[in-house]
Amino acid sequence: MEKKASVIKEIATFCKRKGFVFPSCEIYGGFSGFYDYGPLGVELKKNIKDSWWKRFVQERDDVFGIDACTINHPLVWKASGHVDCFTDPLVECKKCHKRYRADHLIEDILGIKADGLKIEEMNKIIKENSIRCPECKGELTEVMTFNLMFKTFVGPVENEKSIAYLRPETAQMIFVNFKGVLETSRAKLPFGIAQIGRAYRNEISPRDFLFRVREFEQMEIEYFIKEEDINNCPFLTDEILDFKLNVLSREMQEKGESHKKMSIREALDKGIIKTRWHAYWIYEMVKWFIDLGVNPEKLRIRQHLKDELSHYALDTWDIEYCFPFGWKEIHGMANRTTYDLSQHMKFSGKDLRYFDEEKRERIMPYVVAEPSQGVDRAFLVFLIDAYTKEEDRIVLKLNPKLAPYKVAVFPLVKKDGLDEIAKKIHSMLKKHFTSFYDEKGSIGRRYARQDEIGTPFCITIDYQTKEDNTVTVRNRDSKEQVRVKIDNLVDVLRSLIDGEVKFEELNNKI
Ligand code: GAP
Repeated sequence: MEKKASVIKEIATFCKRKGFVFPSCEIYGGFSGFYDYGPLGVELKKNIKDSWWKRFVQERDDVFGIDACTINHPLVWKASGHVDCFTDPLVECKKCHKRYRADHLIEDILGIKADGLKIEEMNKIIKENSIRCPECKGELTEVMTFNLMFKTFVGPVENEKSIAYLRPETAQMIFVNFKGVLETSRAKLPFGIAQIGRAYRNEISPRDFLFRVREFEQMEIEYFIKEEDINNCPFLTDEILDFKLNVLSREMQEKGESHKKMSIREALDKGIIKTRWHAYWIYEMVKWFIDLGVNPEKLRIRQHLKDELSHYALDTWDIEYCFPFGWKEIHGMANRTTYDLSQHMKFSGKDLRYFDEEKRERIMPYVVAEPSQGVDRAFLVFLIDAYTKEEDRIVLKLNPKLAPYKVAVFPLVKKDGLDEIAKKIHSMLKKHFTSFYDEKGSIGRRYARQDEIGTPFCITIDYQTKEDNTVTVRNRDSKEQVRVKIDNLVDVLRSLIDGEVKFEELNNKI
């Protein structure tokens, strides 16, 4: 418990000190569950979102993007089931009136997993273990349900009729816009609709820095197919089928087993992952994290237990990351069936079906997989995974594609015209990459400052530059240096950042 708190505190302190993330409204004492992104954080977050959008929308022909409003017609959330079902279990102290999320309280005090337990089960555990208020030792109420949606009023009159909700997930607005996208894009099943945007949840106990907050961003895709094509996924190649990952199925959890490494093929053949489409999208999302540098051994996929499934889900697999505070969900992947479109068709009275040209009839598109993740949780994963303490330095080993600054430019000394050459190079590089210019302090200190914020490459202009128009390029992770001609600098850096060339493969080592 203490170790967990200290690691997360260290990361939060680091983020604040370096300008990645600030507690929101800190001058007013902070605002629990809200964080603001500083100059470096906003770049890292943008790079995460851009990478996702490029890979899953722009580089595909079968996924279309939207960007919908965050305050929506109240019927959207009635139809989706969120008004009735989007709740967490809550207990209140009868003495000091402090409120706790019941499953978290049980987990914290007894160290057992309580997510997804029924209310009666939680009441029983609280009674049997005489759990009391951690603050004042007062008696707790029975477990109640608490709806997580933020309410607001739309228009100048505040009454029941003007109540609206801030969206708790981006997904519903994908369903609400399904007809518009279908008609304008001329999409044919199978296809997906993607969205990146803000979501709001009035979490009972925000915790673990960016992990559980009240305002966050999501990156979501709803992938629609014809129901009969549930196992007909044209993208599932042998390479994907042979890909191995850590798998924790429902059955393994029920038997008390830990995750096992297996190939996607094995998981499908043994009926662990039920559909080929679900397997394909699990692979795509796990691979995205790995390609951006996350340690594969710290990732696993875990199937939801029956009691844990959301009201709309037939089957759900989470991608989990091994945080300093345990394995936790970073990405959800539900099979949502035809539930949402059917509900919106019922509540709106509009026909949301798809005309199947082969069958010459209207069918209800089937959401075989909903890749859904929080940007802020991904941010935390990339940050924790990259945060490395070495003997003499802290180094943030971020994938260059994610790094806030791709390059930093230093004159060895601020005289003899080296600073002027350095400024010119910085101006040239800024047109291609985020670049930082620094002439203050010793060169060692300047390298250390960039290592800490994850800048993968540092360029130093020295006296040799004046003789042969070359500069040194230093690699953040190995501290190795090579000499590169100024004329080649943009191309060399681009291939390093894109991962086309490894630093070790460059010539002219120093
Ligand atoms: N549309 C499905 C959906 O919203 P979810 O499992 O509730 O499913 C998806 O949320 C993802 O959103 C999670 O895996 C997590 O990354 C992120 N997320 C959810 N609640 C969050 C919170 N309070 N703070 C930060 N991220 C959150």
